[in-house]
Amino acid sequence: MSSPRLNILITGGSGYTGQFLVHHLTREHQVHYTYGTRQLASAPDGVAAHQVDLATGEGLQPLFEQTTFHAVINCAAISQPAACEANPQAARAVNVPTHLVGLACCGSRRSAVWRPCWCDFSTDQADAVRGCSPTTFFSDEWRSPVYVRDLCGLVEGLVRGAAAGPAGDAGTAAAAAAGPGAGAGEAALVPRHRVYNAGGPERLSRADMARQVADVLGCGYGAIREAPSASVSRPVASPSDISMDVSRLTTQLGFRTTSFRQALTHIFAEAADGR
Ligand SMILES: NC(=O)c1ccc[n+]([C@@H]2O[C@H](COP(=O)([O-])OP(=O)(O)OC[C@H]3O[C@@H](n4cnc5c(N)ncnc54)[C@H](OP(=O)(O)O)[C@@H]3O)[C@@H](O)[C@H]2O)c1
Repeated sequence: MSSPRLNILITGGSGYTGQFLVHHLTREHQVHYTYGTRQLASAPDGVAAHQVDLATGEGLQPLFEQTTFHAVINCAAISQPAACEANPQAARAVNVPTHLVGLACCGSRRSAVWRPCWCDFSTDQADAVRGCSPTTFFSDEWRSPVYVRDLCGLVEGLVRGAAAGPAGDAGTAAAAAAGPGAGAGEAALVPRHRVYNAGGPERLSRADMARQVADVLGCGYGAIREAPSASVSRPVASPSDISMDVSRLTTQLGFRTTSFRQALTHIFAEAADGR
C-alpha cells in the first residue's frame, strides 16, 4: 500500500533550510510554503506559496481555513544574531510564532480539533564553508555541521512516522492518520514532544572544516590561516562550543547523519554535475 499524500506547510520555505525541504517533500506530498518578502525563485511545480507576517499573524488565518495540514515544519526565523540584538522585540515576535502555534495547535474554525504534526527548527546559525581563497578560520569555535539533505530525510521520516498511526510516538500524528474528521478520542491523544539535536556526527572547529573542504577540493592547506576567536572584535558574541551529542537520533530513530567530509563529497559532486 502506498503512503498517504500529506498536506505539509513549511514556514520560511523561501529561506536556506526551507527551500531544501520544499523541494524534498514535494516529491511525495502537497507542499505549501510561506515567505515574508521573497518567493522561491525556482519552486517545484504544484507548490503553493503564501505571503505571511509571522510577527503579526497576517495571512495565516486564511491559510489554515483553506487547508487542513497534516504537518507544519517551522523554518521561519530571524536568525542573524546581530539582527536579533538590534531589534529583540521583532526577533521574539517571529522566533516565538504565537499566531502560528495558536492556529496549528488550537485549530482554526475549519478544524477545531485538528492538530498537525509540528516540527520546529531552533534558531541558530552555522556558517557556510566554501572555497579556498586566503581566509582566517577560528581554531577554537566548535560546531557539529549537519548536511542539509540529512535534515530533509529526518523531517520526512518524522512526518511519515507521525502519520503512521496510533503506534507512532506523536499523538497528534495518530489523529492525522485517521483524517481531519477523527473522533474526539483520537484527536485528544496527548502528543509526546521530543527534542533532537539535529547536528552532524562530529565536533569540528572552523579550521577543521576548512581543512576538510581543502581535502575534498584537493587544493592543500596553503590558503588556510588559523586564529583564536578572541583575535577578532565582533559586535555580537558567538558561542565557542555549540557542538552537540546527536546520539538520540540513532538510538531513538535509527537515523545516522552524514560526516562532514562525506557531505562535502556529495555537494561538490552535485555541483560538478550541475545538479
Ligand atoms: N542555515 C543554517 O545553517 C542553520 C543552522 C542551524 C539552525 N538553523 C535554524 O533553522 C531555521 C531556518 O534557518 P535559515 O538559515 O533557513 O534562515 P533564513 O535563510 O534566514 O530564512 C528565514 C525564513 O524566515 C522567513 N521570515 C523571516 N521573518 C519573517 C516574518 N516576519 N514573517 C514571515 N516569514 C519570515 C524568511 O522569509 P523572507 O526572507 O521571504 O522574508 C525566510 O523564509 C532558523 O531557526 C535557524 O536558526 C539554521
